[in-house]
Amino acid sequence: MHDILQELERRRAHARSGGGERRIQAQHAKGKLTARERIALLLDENSFEEFDMFVEHRSHEFGMEDQRVPGDGVVTGWGAINGRVVYVFSKDFTVFGGSLSGAHAEKIVKVQRQAAKVGAPIIGLFDAGGARIQEGVESLAGYADIFLENVLSSGVIPQISVIMGPCAGGDVYSPAMTDFIFMVRDTSYMFVTGPDVVKTVTNEIVTAEELGGARVHAGKSGVAEGAFDNDLEAMTQVRRLVDFLPLSNRQKPPVRESYDELDREEPSLDTLVPSNPNKPYDMKELILKVVDEADFFEISSDWAKNIITGFARLDGEPIGVVANQPQVLAGVLDIDSSRKAARFVRFCDAFNIPILTFVDVPGFMPGTKQEYGGLIKHGAKLLFAYAEATVPKITVITRKAYGGAYDVMSSKHLRGDFNYAWPTAEIAVMGAKGAVEIIFRADMNDPAKLAEREAEYKARFANPFVAASRGYIDDVILPRETRRRVTRALKSLKGKVLENPWKKHDNIPL
Ligand code: HXC
Repeated sequence: MHDILQELERRRAHARSGGGERRIQAQHAKGKLTARERIALLLDENSFEEFDMFVEHRSHEFGMEDQRVPGDGVVTGWGAINGRVVYVFSKDFTVFGGSLSGAHAEKIVKVQRQAAKVGAPIIGLFDAGGARIQEGVESLAGYADIFLENVLSSGVIPQISVIMGPCAGGDVYSPAMTDFIFMVRDTSYMFVTGPDVVKTVTNEIVTAEELGGARVHAGKSGVAEGAFDNDLEAMTQVRRLVDFLPLSNRQKPPVRESYDELDREEPSLDTLVPSNPNKPYDMKELILKVVDEADFFEISSDWAKNIITGFARLDGEPIGVVANQPQVLAGVLDIDSSRKAARFVRFCDAFNIPILTFVDVPGFMPGTKQEYGGLIKHGAKLLFAYAEATVPKITVITRKAYGGAYDVMSSKHLRGDFNYAWPTAEIAVMGAKGAVEIIFRADMNDPAKLAEREAEYKARFANPFVAASRGYIDDVILPRETRRRVTRALKSLKGKVLENPWKKHDNIPL
């Protein structure tokens, strides 16, 4: 018996050592942790239970029969984040560069299926060179199996990907189908084809960082929803994010005890909106002053900054926040901000997370760049997402709500449950200056008359009361009372039941 136990321990130690001490040191020298060290940081202490530690690849090509490492380049299993079950797989770069064999793929598919079956989030930690080159088509088949599980689980369980090393080929497509991608600055890259292939095909010379570093994907392409400074911070922040999410679409988001008073007043909000309508202010200040303990987990904070998206709590209940940011491009809706917010709204709706929307939007961005880029279809994504969402929807218009953007931003007409406006709200087809220049074109050469018309238009429309008189705004509220009003509204919506007509699925303008 003693021998068998020793044999088990020996085999376990061998599996845990991955690609060996030399490669582990090389991993550390690059500022990266190993697959197992990352899992230890991600999960509650001693909660990790490993699957398939002894699985090996089946390849006999290119001398691979002599190179078998138990676990085959990926560590899989389950554990807990603050006591709630999550499934995890973590690519081990020290074993064949974390590349994917048929056996490696089967391990990932096993935890994907298990997570979907029990209704628990799945978190993938990526640090891998794509398809195992020695295996060929078996590896490609393995990727397709993983992709299929990603798709089937989409909207069923939260799927989170963290890019923690160079990732190419199949190791970027699977993350692309998950809900959130986070990267680690300076040590992680994502590209479909790497710099060498780019040079061969297009003659373009770029570094890995320029082609697919964290700055590119979290700031320019929007492929990643965030970037962190190192592995430790990435794992800590993913734990924070998971705390806002339900385990699956069958559950409500996790309610925590709040230490923030429900009816806390914020007098400073009464003067947040400047008297000059063209002057920006920071919408984040409003978010932080309204939500519990100023705790806001921002999604895509470095991309399409003219709209803010993220998770927070009101009296302990998770909410998704969407807010125009007047500080960036005056908070205009353009292609990127529409895509960013639409995806976020759909995530919230899929996972029963109520949406709080703060509106200060001058309209859609004009110009050939936007029109050629398909603004019509991209803007429609956000309209579509808000309209189809059946979760509780609470909207507060702080200042501008002009034109089509008024309709889009969770308006009453798209089944907003509570639509409030601050006294500073201006709900109109467009700003006063633009409006009079069109409807009083004949007065264009008479500045005094034009100014008079502008003042007249402002007095008539630059307020929330016309919309309120139609019932499109449920109430005009004091800025200082925003927290109390939206929190009470949220509580009153606990029993909300709303269903869309039966369909196989919708046809959102992709
Ligand atoms: C087998 C691989 C491998 C792979 C790396 N290794 N990638 N083994 N298959 N795809 C091994 C190396 O041989 C090496 O083994 C170890 O991993 C570390 O690799 P290095 O090159 O030394 O590391 P580094 O310099 O950091 O470069 C990392 C890398 C590079 C950028 C990932 O290895 C690379 O470009 N690999 C190939 C990427 C690729 O083209 N993959 C196929 C994509 S196509 P030793 O023994 O020396 O430690 C694809 C198809 C699926 O994925 C598409 C589905 C839609």
